[in-house]
Amino acid sequence: MANALHDRHKRPSSYSSIAIALHWIIAVLIIANVIGALAAEGADRQTAGQIMSAHKSIGLTVLVLSLVRLGWRLAHGFPPLPASTPRWDAIVARTTHFAFYFFMIAVPLAGWTMVSAGPRPLEWFGLFGWPKLPVSEALAGFAHDAHVILAFSTVGLLVLHVAGALKHHLIDRDEVLSRMLPLVRRKTPTD
Ligand code: HEM
Ligand code: HEM
Repeated sequence: MANALHDRHKRPSSYSSIAIALHWIIAVLIIANVIGALAAEGADRQTAGQIMSAHKSIGLTVLVLSLVRLGWRLAHGFPPLPASTPRWDAIVARTTHFAFYFFMIAVPLAGWTMVSAGPRPLEWFGLFGWPKLPVSEALAGFAHDAHVILAFSTVGLLVLHVAGALKHHLIDRDEVLSRMLPLVRRKTPTD
C-alpha cells in the first residue's frame, strides 16, 4: 500500500550522483544562510553588510539549484523506501520532502521579492547584476514576513528530517541514510 504513493514515478534503485550532489550542496548553502543571517544580527554594520551581501547571492544560488533539482527529480524519479518502511513513515517522508521543495524555492523567492523594492542594486557575488522583480512596497513587506517565517519553518523541518534519517539508520538499520551519502559504496540494485 505504501508503494502506491510512488506509483506515478519512475523507480530508480538509488539516488544518482547528481541528486546526491544537489542535495548536499543545497543543504550546506541553506544552513550557511541561516547561520549567516543570525550572525549578522549581532555583528557590526560593515560585517553585517558583507554577510548579508553573501546571504543574498547564496540564497539566489539556492533558488536556481533547487529549480534544477526539482526538474531532475521530476525527470528521473527517486528510489522507493525499503519495503519494511511503515506506511506512516512513508507518508511523513513524502510530506517532508514535498514541503522542503516548497521551502527551497519559496524562501529565496521571498528574499528576492523583499529586496526588490529597496534602493540597492542586486548582484551575484559582485560578478554580475541580478534583476529585481517589479514589486510594490506592500508586496515586499509581505515577502519580508514570509521570508522570516518560512526560513525558520525550514529549520523546524530540518530537525524532523534529520531525526527521520537517524531513525532509518539506527533503529530500522536500513540503507536510507547511506544511499544519500556521497562516496558510500552502494549495494547492487535489487529492485
Ligand atoms: C537559502 C535561502 C535563504 C535562507 C535559508 C534565508 C534565511 C534567512 C533568515 C533565517 C533570516 C533572518 C531572519 C530574522 O532573524 O529576522 C534572513 C534574513 C534576510 N534575508 Fe534571507 N534567506 C535566504 C535567501 C535570501 C535571498 C535570496 C535574499 C535576497 C536576495 C535574502 C535576503 C534577506 C535579507 C535582506 C534579510 C534581512 C531581513 C531583515 O533585516 O529583517 N535571503 N534570511
Ligand atoms: C536544509 C537542509 C536539507 C534539505 C532542504 C533536504 C532536503 C531533502 C529532500 C527534498 C529530500 C528528498 C530527496 C530528493 O528529492 O532529492 C531529501 C532526502 C534525504 N535527506 Fe535531506 N535535506 C537536508 C538536509 C539533510 C541532512 C542534514 C541529512 C542528514 C541526516 C539529510 C538526509 C537525507 C536522506 C538520508 C535522504 C534520503 C531519504 C529517502 O531516501 O527517502 N538531509 N532531503
